[in-house]
Amino acid sequence: MRYASITERLAGLGSGKWAIHIEARRKEAEGIPVIQLTIGEPDLPPDQALLAECTRALYAGRTRYSNGRGEASVVTALVEKYRKRRDGVTERNVLCFPGTQSALFVVLMGLLDAGDEVLVGDPYYATYEGLIASSGARLSPVELKVENGFHLNARDLEAAITPRSRVLLLNTPHNPTGAVLTSEEIAAIGEVCCRHDLWIVCDEVYEELTFCQAFGKTFASPFDNPDLAERTIVVSSISKSHAAPGFRSGWAVGPSEFFDRLLPVSETMFFGVQPFIADMTAMALTQPIETSSIMRTNYERRARLMANRLKTINSLRPVMPEGGMFIVVDVGATGLTGYEFAARLLEEQHVAVMPGSSFGEAARHLIRVSLTVSDDRLAEAADRMVQLARTLAADAA
Ligand SMILES: Cc1ncc(COP(=O)(O)O)c(C=O)c1O
Repeated sequence: MRYASITERLAGLGSGKWAIHIEARRKEAEGIPVIQLTIGEPDLPPDQALLAECTRALYAGRTRYSNGRGEASVVTALVEKYRKRRDGVTERNVLCFPGTQSALFVVLMGLLDAGDEVLVGDPYYATYEGLIASSGARLSPVELKVENGFHLNARDLEAAITPRSRVLLLNTPHNPTGAVLTSEEIAAIGEVCCRHDLWIVCDEVYEELTFCQAFGKTFASPFDNPDLAERTIVVSSISKSHAAPGFRSGWAVGPSEFFDRLLPVSETMFFGVQPFIADMTAMALTQPIETSSIMRTNYERRARLMANRLKTINSLRPVMPEGGMFIVVDVGATGLTGYEFAARLLEEQHVAVMPGSSFGEAARHLIRVSLTVSDDRLAEAADRMVQLARTLAADAA
């Protein structure tokens, strides 16, 4: 049989990146207890008020077709949210999607043709490669250097630009590294994008999990800079901020001219999102809900806990995140790659983490540890990592 080339471009870019996670789940199903620190799934349930609103809406008959842009309640809530960040936002600047992932897919489909290049800081979120390859474009990596706290540097970005570059896909707070860009860094990056006429697609799914607020810094975004308004699209969702990934409720906010063109692309694929979930999302965006502040405190505390425990051995080098729900650890000094370390950690210590190689070439020597278990479980996982590192050191001696 003949298949379209997209099936070749995406071969190996789907669940293959989650092989260790899938193996860990298989072990658990066999009755082997594993400390699961792989995927970014919040460990809190969604707030009771949101669940009640979703159920109320279901029983109130909010189960019919919606429209392509999104239910009025959510669109209005998003206009209010983003108008606080930049003047002039209207409903023509907003499109709703079933999650950030699908928002990214449609936005990139609307910006890219085969042969175009998308600049992405490397390491990068595991699905970006597939998202970019879907349209036939190419991911052009820009190394995020550990000595720069994994922050994207404007000079490195400029050096990677070619005549085929069309889009910068930015992610702050960053998955997997937890780096949070400052407004000065964003201004320098934005200036490069203006000079080379690049779109900026900014994935802000971890906006509410910015730890650096504790140090007097704040979350910053190219969206908030009026000079970048015509070229910036923000994508986000309630998956992380409201611990509601299974609801699949997200959005994109960007220039109205582009979104007028994008609406039929989205409609062709989704035909709208679910009204009962939209009602719950509108409440999430307009009412004070504590979930994100609880998670923010928990994840920052747990990142410190993990970093302090791992520092007892030289061969494990944790890099303290500034936001998000993960910490990365450089395991290169153990003599293993991130994948080899993660595979042995699962086999010998029954702890599942993501290998850095799932996040690009520059992350080969890293593992990513999810902070979404209790402090006690996380401390136990850290001790088992140290145990493996000791075994490796003894074997090498
Ligand atoms: C950086 C990043 N973008 C997007 C997503 C997907 O988010 P959503 O559940 O809104 O599709 C994730 C999920 O882990 C993520 O880490």
